[in-house]
Amino acid sequence: MEPVSSLQSICYKRGSLQLLDQRKLPLETIYLDIQDAADGWSAIRDMVVRGAPAIAIAAALSLAVEVFNLKAFNGTSDDAASFINKKLEYLVSSRPTAVNLSDAATKLKEVTSKAAATASEAQSIFQAYIEAAEIMLKDDVSSNKAIGSYGASFLQHQLKNSKRLSILTHCNTGSLATAGYGTALGVIRAVHTEGLLERAYCTETRPFNQGSRLTAFELVHDNIPATLIADSAAAALMKDGRVDAVIVGADRVAANGDTANKIGTYSLALCAMNHKIPFYVAAPLTSIDLSLTSGKEIVIEERSPKELTHSGGGLGEQVAASGISVWNPAFDVTPANLIAGIITEKGVITKMSSDAFDIKDFVQKVDQ
Ligand code: MRU
Repeated sequence: MEPVSSLQSICYKRGSLQLLDQRKLPLETIYLDIQDAADGWSAIRDMVVRGAPAIAIAAALSLAVEVFNLKAFNGTSDDAASFINKKLEYLVSSRPTAVNLSDAATKLKEVTSKAAATASEAQSIFQAYIEAAEIMLKDDVSSNKAIGSYGASFLQHQLKNSKRLSILTHCNTGSLATAGYGTALGVIRAVHTEGLLERAYCTETRPFNQGSRLTAFELVHDNIPATLIADSAAAALMKDGRVDAVIVGADRVAANGDTANKIGTYSLALCAMNHKIPFYVAAPLTSIDLSLTSGKEIVIEERSPKELTHSGGGLGEQVAASGISVWNPAFDVTPANLIAGIITEKGVITKMSSDAFDIKDFVQKVDQ
Protein backbone atom coordinates (compact mmCIF):
# COMPACT_ATOMS: atom_id res chain seq x y z
CA MET A 1 0.00 0.00 0.00
CA GLU A 2 1.80 3.16 -1.20
CA PRO A 3 1.62 6.34 0.92
CA VAL A 4 0.05 9.26 -1.04
CA SER A 5 2.76 11.62 0.23
CA SER A 6 6.05 11.36 2.11
CA LEU A 7 4.23 13.27 4.85
CA GLN A 8 1.81 10.45 5.53
CA SER A 9 2.65 8.98 8.94
CA ILE A 10 -0.24 6.45 8.91
CA CYS A 11 -0.81 4.13 5.94
CA TYR A 12 -3.91 2.05 6.46
CA LYS A 13 -6.26 -0.20 4.53
CA ARG A 14 -8.54 -2.77 6.10
CA GLY A 15 -6.34 -5.54 7.54
CA SER A 16 -3.03 -3.73 7.06
CA LEU A 17 -1.28 -0.84 8.80
CA GLN A 18 2.13 0.73 8.23
CA LEU A 19 3.57 3.55 10.29
CA LEU A 20 6.25 5.94 9.03
CA ASP A 21 9.25 5.60 11.40
CA GLN A 22 9.53 9.24 12.44
CA ARG A 23 12.78 8.55 14.36
CA LYS A 24 14.49 8.11 10.99
CA LEU A 25 13.19 11.34 9.40
CA PRO A 26 14.23 13.46 7.58
CA LEU A 27 17.09 11.35 6.23
CA GLU A 28 15.26 8.04 5.73
CA THR A 29 11.62 7.27 4.84
CA ILE A 30 10.90 3.83 6.33
CA TYR A 31 7.45 2.35 6.94
CA LEU A 32 7.09 -0.29 9.67
CA ASP A 33 4.45 -3.01 9.41
CA ILE A 34 2.10 -3.02 12.42
CA GLN A 35 0.44 -6.40 12.98
CA ASP A 36 -1.39 -5.85 16.28
CA ALA A 37 -1.93 -3.79 19.46
CA ALA A 38 1.43 -4.93 20.86
CA ASP A 39 3.20 -3.50 17.80
CA GLY A 40 1.06 -0.37 18.13
CA TRP A 41 2.01 0.01 21.81
CA SER A 42 5.76 -0.24 21.07
CA ALA A 43 5.54 2.14 18.08
CA ILE A 44 3.90 4.74 20.33
CA ARG A 45 6.20 4.23 23.34
CA ASP A 46 9.33 4.35 21.15
CA MET A 47 8.06 7.42 19.21
CA VAL A 48 7.96 5.69 15.81
CA VAL A 49 4.63 7.53 15.69
CA ARG A 50 4.12 10.61 17.86
CA GLY A 51 1.85 13.65 18.12
CA ALA A 52 -1.37 13.43 20.17
CA PRO A 53 -3.86 12.77 17.31
CA ALA A 54 -1.55 10.35 15.42
CA ILE A 55 -0.93 8.38 18.63
CA ALA A 56 -4.68 7.90 19.16
CA ILE A 57 -5.37 6.90 15.55
CA ALA A 58 -2.35 4.56 15.27
CA ALA A 59 -3.43 2.82 18.49
CA ALA A 60 -7.03 2.40 17.32
CA LEU A 61 -5.96 1.07 13.90
CA SER A 62 -3.32 -1.32 15.31
CA LEU A 63 -6.14 -3.12 17.14
CA ALA A 64 -8.39 -2.89 14.07
CA VAL A 65 -5.73 -4.78 12.07
CA GLU A 66 -5.37 -7.35 14.87
CA VAL A 67 -9.10 -8.16 15.10
CA PHE A 68 -9.48 -8.15 11.28
CA ASN A 69 -6.71 -10.76 10.91
CA LEU A 70 -7.75 -12.93 13.87
CA LYS A 71 -7.77 -16.51 12.52
CA ALA A 72 -10.47 -17.58 14.97
CA PHE A 73 -12.18 -16.20 18.05
CA ASN A 74 -13.95 -18.70 20.26
CA GLY A 75 -16.16 -16.49 22.31
CA THR A 76 -19.42 -14.61 22.55
CA SER A 77 -20.06 -11.00 21.57
CA ASP A 78 -19.46 -10.01 25.22
CA ASP A 79 -16.11 -11.86 25.15
CA ALA A 80 -15.22 -9.94 21.99
CA ALA A 81 -16.12 -6.63 23.65
CA SER A 82 -13.98 -7.38 26.72
CA PHE A 83 -11.14 -8.58 24.47
CA ILE A 84 -11.20 -5.18 22.76
CA ASN A 85 -11.56 -3.24 26.04
CA LYS A 86 -8.50 -4.97 27.54
CA LYS A 87 -6.41 -4.20 24.45
CA LEU A 88 -7.54 -0.55 24.51
CA GLU A 89 -6.55 -0.19 28.18
CA TYR A 90 -3.17 -1.65 27.31
CA LEU A 91 -2.72 0.79 24.40
CA VAL A 92 -3.65 3.75 26.64
CA SER A 93 -0.71 2.79 28.90
CA SER A 94 1.83 3.49 26.12
CA ARG A 95 2.18 7.24 26.89
CA PRO A 96 0.28 9.20 29.63
CA THR A 97 0.06 12.90 28.69
CA ALA A 98 -1.78 13.13 25.36
CA VAL A 99 -5.52 12.76 26.14
CA ASN A 100 -6.55 11.96 22.54
CA LEU A 101 -5.56 8.30 23.07
CA SER A 102 -7.73 7.76 26.17
CA ASP A 103 -10.53 9.82 24.59
CA ALA A 104 -10.45 7.51 21.54
CA ALA A 105 -10.37 4.41 23.78
CA THR A 106 -13.43 5.61 25.72
CA LYS A 107 -15.40 6.27 22.52
CA LEU A 108 -14.40 2.92 20.99
CA LYS A 109 -15.41 1.08 24.18
CA GLU A 110 -18.82 2.76 23.93
CA VAL A 111 -19.13 1.51 20.34
CA THR A 112 -18.26 -2.09 21.27
CA SER A 113 -20.47 -2.24 24.36
CA LYS A 114 -23.38 -0.74 22.34
CA ALA A 115 -22.79 -3.35 19.62
CA ALA A 116 -22.55 -6.11 22.22
CA ALA A 117 -25.97 -5.12 23.55
CA THR A 118 -27.65 -6.14 20.29
CA ALA A 119 -25.24 -8.48 18.48
CA SER A 120 -24.85 -12.18 19.27
CA GLU A 121 -21.79 -12.85 17.11
CA ALA A 122 -18.27 -11.80 18.14
CA GLN A 123 -17.61 -10.93 14.47
CA SER A 124 -20.23 -8.17 14.56
CA ILE A 125 -18.40 -6.55 17.49
CA PHE A 126 -15.08 -6.65 15.63
CA GLN A 127 -16.78 -5.21 12.53
CA ALA A 128 -18.31 -2.35 14.56
CA TYR A 129 -14.92 -1.66 16.14
CA ILE A 130 -13.05 -1.62 12.81
CA GLU A 131 -15.58 0.77 11.22
CA ALA A 132 -15.42 3.14 14.21
CA ALA A 133 -11.61 3.20 14.19
CA GLU A 134 -11.59 3.91 10.45
CA ILE A 135 -13.97 6.85 10.94
CA MET A 136 -11.49 8.37 13.42
CA LEU A 137 -8.81 8.36 10.73
CA LYS A 138 -11.08 10.18 8.27
CA ASP A 139 -12.55 12.63 10.79
CA ASP A 140 -9.10 13.75 11.95
CA VAL A 141 -8.16 15.17 8.55
CA SER A 142 -11.41 17.11 8.15
CA SER A 143 -11.13 18.39 11.70
CA ASN A 144 -7.59 19.67 11.03
CA LYS A 145 -8.69 21.44 7.87
CA ALA A 146 -11.44 23.16 9.89
CA ILE A 147 -8.89 24.23 12.52
CA GLY A 148 -6.69 25.62 9.73
CA SER A 149 -9.52 27.62 8.21
CA TYR A 150 -10.86 29.02 11.53
CA GLY A 151 -7.30 29.85 12.58
CA ALA A 152 -6.42 31.68 9.35
CA SER A 153 -9.55 33.82 9.33
CA PHE A 154 -9.24 34.56 13.06
CA LEU A 155 -5.61 35.68 12.70
CA GLN A 156 -6.44 37.75 9.63
CA HIS A 157 -9.10 39.53 11.71
CA GLN A 158 -7.01 39.85 14.89
CA LEU A 159 -3.81 41.00 13.19
CA LYS A 160 -5.35 43.11 10.45
CA ASN A 161 -2.62 45.77 10.82
CA SER A 162 0.07 43.28 9.78
CA LYS A 163 0.24 42.97 6.03
CA ARG A 164 1.63 39.42 6.09
CA LEU A 165 2.19 37.38 9.20
CA SER A 166 5.32 35.84 10.65
CA ILE A 167 4.32 32.92 12.87
CA LEU A 168 6.48 30.99 15.31
CA THR A 169 5.64 27.36 16.13
CA HIS A 170 7.11 24.66 18.39
CA CYS A 171 7.47 20.88 18.03
CA ASN A 172 5.70 19.16 15.12
CA THR A 173 1.94 19.52 14.76
CA GLY A 174 1.63 18.81 11.03
CA SER A 175 0.62 15.86 8.85
CA LEU A 176 3.20 13.70 10.62
CA ALA A 177 1.58 14.32 14.05
CA THR A 178 -1.95 13.67 12.81
CA ALA A 179 -3.84 11.77 10.12
CA GLY A 180 -3.09 14.71 7.79
CA TYR A 181 -2.77 18.50 7.33
CA GLY A 182 -2.05 19.21 11.01
CA THR A 183 -3.28 21.46 13.81
CA ALA A 184 -0.97 24.44 14.54
CA LEU A 185 0.97 23.68 11.35
CA GLY A 186 -2.41 23.36 9.64
CA VAL A 187 -3.15 26.99 10.58
CA ILE A 188 0.24 28.01 9.15
CA ARG A 189 -0.59 26.04 5.96
CA ALA A 190 -3.96 27.81 5.71
CA VAL A 191 -2.44 31.28 6.29
CA HIS A 192 0.13 30.47 3.58
CA THR A 193 -2.60 29.31 1.19
CA GLU A 194 -4.38 32.61 1.79
CA GLY A 195 -1.18 34.43 0.75
CA LEU A 196 -0.94 36.00 4.22
CA LEU A 197 2.21 34.31 5.46
CA GLU A 198 5.46 36.29 5.52
CA ARG A 199 7.48 33.53 7.21
CA ALA A 200 7.09 30.54 9.49
CA TYR A 201 9.65 30.05 12.23
CA CYS A 202 10.05 26.61 13.77
CA THR A 203 12.07 25.78 16.86
CA GLU A 204 14.49 22.85 16.91
CA THR A 205 12.54 21.34 19.84
CA ARG A 206 15.20 19.60 21.82
CA PRO A 207 15.82 16.89 22.86
CA PHE A 208 13.89 14.82 20.25
CA ASN A 209 14.16 17.57 17.56
CA GLN A 210 10.59 17.25 16.25
CA GLY A 211 10.97 20.84 14.91
CA SER A 212 14.28 20.57 13.03
CA ARG A 213 13.61 17.03 11.76
CA LEU A 214 9.81 16.94 11.15
CA THR A 215 8.34 20.47 10.97
CA ALA A 216 11.21 21.75 8.81
CA PHE A 217 10.70 18.64 6.61
CA GLU A 218 6.99 19.49 6.13
CA LEU A 219 7.59 23.22 5.53
CA VAL A 220 10.29 22.56 2.92
CA HIS A 221 8.09 19.84 1.35
CA ASP A 222 5.26 22.38 0.93
CA ASN A 223 7.54 25.25 -0.20
CA ILE A 224 6.37 27.38 2.72
CA PRO A 225 8.83 30.22 3.50
CA ALA A 226 10.37 29.08 6.76
CA THR A 227 13.35 29.43 9.09
CA LEU A 228 14.60 27.02 11.75
CA ILE A 229 15.79 28.48 15.06
CA ALA A 230 17.37 27.06 18.19
CA ASP A 231 14.87 26.82 21.07
CA SER A 232 17.00 29.34 22.97
CA ALA A 233 16.81 31.89 20.11
CA ALA A 234 13.03 32.44 20.36
CA ALA A 235 13.18 35.34 22.85
CA ALA A 236 15.74 37.21 20.73
CA LEU A 237 13.60 36.67 17.61
CA MET A 238 10.57 38.14 19.42
CA LYS A 239 12.65 41.06 20.74
CA ASP A 240 13.62 41.81 17.10
CA GLY A 241 9.92 42.22 16.32
CA ARG A 242 10.02 39.35 13.82
CA VAL A 243 7.10 37.40 15.31
CA ASP A 244 3.44 38.46 14.92
CA ALA A 245 1.97 35.40 16.62
CA VAL A 246 2.95 32.11 18.23
CA ILE A 247 0.83 29.01 17.47
CA VAL A 248 1.43 25.65 19.14
CA GLY A 249 -0.42 22.35 19.47
CA ALA A 250 -1.69 20.61 22.58
CA ASP A 251 -1.56 17.22 24.24
CA ARG A 252 -4.12 17.94 26.91
CA VAL A 253 -6.20 21.06 27.61
CA ALA A 254 -7.87 21.34 31.04
CA ALA A 255 -11.37 22.86 31.48
CA ASN A 256 -9.90 26.26 32.42
CA GLY A 257 -7.62 26.33 29.36
CA ASP A 258 -4.32 25.38 31.00
CA THR A 259 -2.53 23.47 28.23
CA ALA A 260 0.05 20.67 28.25
CA ASN A 261 2.28 20.59 25.17
CA LYS A 262 5.88 19.81 24.22
CA ILE A 263 8.50 20.89 26.75
CA GLY A 264 9.55 24.44 25.98
CA THR A 265 6.03 25.66 25.16
CA TYR A 266 5.70 27.39 28.56
CA SER A 267 8.96 29.32 28.00
CA LEU A 268 7.68 30.48 24.59
CA ALA A 269 4.41 31.66 26.19
CA LEU A 270 6.29 33.65 28.85
CA CYS A 271 8.47 35.29 26.17
CA ALA A 272 5.41 36.06 24.04
CA MET A 273 3.60 37.65 26.99
CA ASN A 274 6.68 39.77 27.74
CA HIS A 275 6.78 40.99 24.13
CA LYS A 276 2.99 41.42 23.89
CA ILE A 277 2.78 38.80 21.10
CA PRO A 278 -0.46 36.78 20.99
CA PHE A 279 0.06 33.12 21.89
CA TYR A 280 -2.46 30.62 20.46
CA VAL A 281 -3.14 26.93 20.95
CA ALA A 282 -4.54 24.97 17.98
CA ALA A 283 -6.12 21.62 18.90
CA PRO A 284 -9.12 19.41 18.14
CA LEU A 285 -11.81 19.04 20.82
CA THR A 286 -10.48 15.50 21.36
CA SER A 287 -7.44 17.16 23.03
CA ILE A 288 -9.65 18.78 25.68
CA ASP A 289 -10.07 17.00 29.03
CA LEU A 290 -13.05 18.57 30.79
CA SER A 291 -12.58 16.19 33.73
CA LEU A 292 -9.58 18.30 34.82
CA THR A 293 -10.31 21.72 36.33
CA SER A 294 -6.71 22.97 35.85
CA GLY A 295 -3.31 22.01 34.45
CA LYS A 296 -2.06 21.01 37.91
CA GLU A 297 -3.81 17.66 37.44
CA ILE A 298 -2.10 16.80 34.12
CA VAL A 299 0.33 13.85 34.31
CA ILE A 300 3.61 14.83 32.63
CA GLU A 301 5.55 12.03 30.95
CA GLU A 302 9.26 11.81 31.78
CA ARG A 303 11.34 10.12 29.11
CA SER A 304 14.73 8.38 28.99
CA PRO A 305 17.82 10.40 30.02
CA LYS A 306 19.46 9.02 26.85
CA GLU A 307 17.34 11.44 24.81
CA LEU A 308 19.62 14.18 26.25
CA THR A 309 22.89 12.36 26.79
CA HIS A 310 22.94 10.89 23.24
CA SER A 311 22.16 12.39 19.84
CA GLY A 312 19.37 11.22 17.54
CA GLY A 313 16.72 11.21 20.27
CA GLY A 314 18.92 8.85 22.31
CA LEU A 315 19.71 6.45 19.46
CA GLY A 316 23.00 8.16 18.39
CA GLU A 317 26.43 8.97 19.83
CA GLN A 318 27.03 10.17 23.39
CA VAL A 319 27.03 13.99 23.59
CA ALA A 320 26.87 14.64 27.35
CA ALA A 321 29.38 13.99 30.12
CA SER A 322 29.12 10.51 31.62
CA GLY A 323 27.70 10.34 35.14
CA ILE A 324 25.54 13.49 34.95
CA SER A 325 21.95 13.02 36.22
CA VAL A 326 19.18 14.09 33.83
CA TRP A 327 15.63 15.47 34.14
CA ASN A 328 13.74 14.93 30.86
CA PRO A 329 10.05 15.91 31.08
CA ALA A 330 8.49 15.52 27.60
CA PHE A 331 5.82 18.19 28.20
CA ASP A 332 5.06 21.27 30.29
CA VAL A 333 1.87 23.15 31.15
CA THR A 334 1.15 26.68 29.92
CA PRO A 335 -1.34 28.45 32.20
CA ALA A 336 -4.47 29.88 30.58
CA ASN A 337 -3.53 33.46 31.44
CA LEU A 338 -0.70 33.28 28.88
CA ILE A 339 -2.95 31.96 26.07
CA ALA A 340 -4.89 34.42 23.85
CA GLY A 341 -7.17 31.83 22.22
CA ILE A 342 -7.72 28.12 21.54
CA ILE A 343 -8.36 27.35 17.86
CA THR A 344 -10.56 24.26 17.42
CA GLU A 345 -12.45 22.59 14.54
CA LYS A 346 -15.65 24.19 15.88
CA GLY A 347 -14.26 27.72 16.13
CA VAL A 348 -11.93 29.76 18.32
CA ILE A 349 -12.40 29.73 22.11
CA THR A 350 -11.68 33.19 23.45
CA LYS A 351 -11.55 34.31 27.06
CA MET A 352 -14.37 35.47 29.25
CA SER A 353 -11.82 37.08 31.61
CA SER A 354 -8.05 37.62 31.39
CA ASP A 355 -7.17 34.49 33.29
CA ALA A 356 -9.39 31.66 32.14
CA PHE A 357 -11.50 30.15 29.41
CA ASP A 358 -14.92 28.56 29.92
CA ILE A 359 -14.36 25.58 27.66
CA LYS A 360 -17.29 23.58 29.10
CA ASP A 361 -19.64 26.35 27.96
CA PHE A 362 -18.05 26.43 24.48
CA VAL A 363 -18.28 22.65 24.07
CA GLN A 364 -21.93 22.61 25.20
CA LYS A 365 -22.76 25.38 22.72
CA VAL A 366 -21.01 23.73 19.72
CA ASP A 367 -22.42 20.30 20.58
CA GLN A 368 -26.03 21.56 20.39
O1 MRU B 1 6.34 13.88 22.20
P1 MRU B 1 5.50 14.19 20.99
O2 MRU B 1 6.31 14.39 19.76
O3 MRU B 1 4.37 13.23 20.82
O4 MRU B 1 4.84 15.62 21.36
C1 MRU B 1 3.97 16.18 20.42
C2 MRU B 1 3.44 17.51 20.83
O5 MRU B 1 3.69 18.03 21.90
C3 MRU B 1 2.47 18.15 19.88
O6 MRU B 1 2.57 19.54 19.94
C4 MRU B 1 1.05 17.73 20.24
O7 MRU B 1 0.99 16.35 20.42
C5 MRU B 1 0.05 18.15 19.19
S1 MRU B 1 0.28 17.27 17.71
C6 MRU B 1 -0.94 17.84 16.69
